[in-house]
Amino acid sequence: MQGDSLEVYFATSNKHKVEEAKKVLGTVGITVKHFPFVHREIRSDSLEEIAREAATAAFKQCRQPVFVEDTGLFIDSLNGFPGTFSAWTLKKIGLEGILKLMQGVNNRSAYFETYIAYKRDTSHISTFSGKCSGQISLEGRGSEGFGYDPLFVPDGHDQTFAESITLKNKLSHRYKSLLEFSKTLTSRR
Ligand code: IMP
Repeated sequence: MQGDSLEVYFATSNKHKVEEAKKVLGTVGITVKHFPFVHREIRSDSLEEIAREAATAAFKQCRQPVFVEDTGLFIDSLNGFPGTFSAWTLKKIGLEGILKLMQGVNNRSAYFETYIAYKRDTSHISTFSGKCSGQISLEGRGSEGFGYDPLFVPDGHDQTFAESITLKNKLSHRYKSLLEFSKTLTSRR
């Protein structure tokens, strides 16, 4: 945060995440500045723990109030897999691999969860989370968004996130976590 204008750094190597954060936080008057950050994240079952560790590492480089986020896709019929191993899984087996694991599976419910960790200074860190429930589609659809978006249909809708980024930015896990985060930022204005 600088002066009275609300600015915050987002440390990530994912430009799609930056775009989504700019859209959501921009609507409440917060400017997101991208801090390019490549980090080998820790292995853990906890998104929050992964995000906290990454925020601490990012702050050491950025030296300004900075946030990071960690997201996972949790598929009920796969006991929450790939969860915190979502990036590794996508790299190894891709969307096709997920669809193969789900072949013949009727229960297609899943959720995305995001944890934001915000490191304001050397002594302060806080976290904010958001969840979005939905269904894993029978095939990949759409070309917007990134990652697992072509497979995810949020509850109450027919389109995948990759078919409508506008829909995604209105109700996604990331949107919800950013909204919670924004309340803290604007309360200090
Ligand atoms: P991470 O938060 O960057 O570690 O993401 C974990 C994995 O989930 C990566 O493969 C991302 O591409 C994917 N992912 C993260 N956020 C989203 C999202 O909003 N939609 C679809 N896939 C996502």
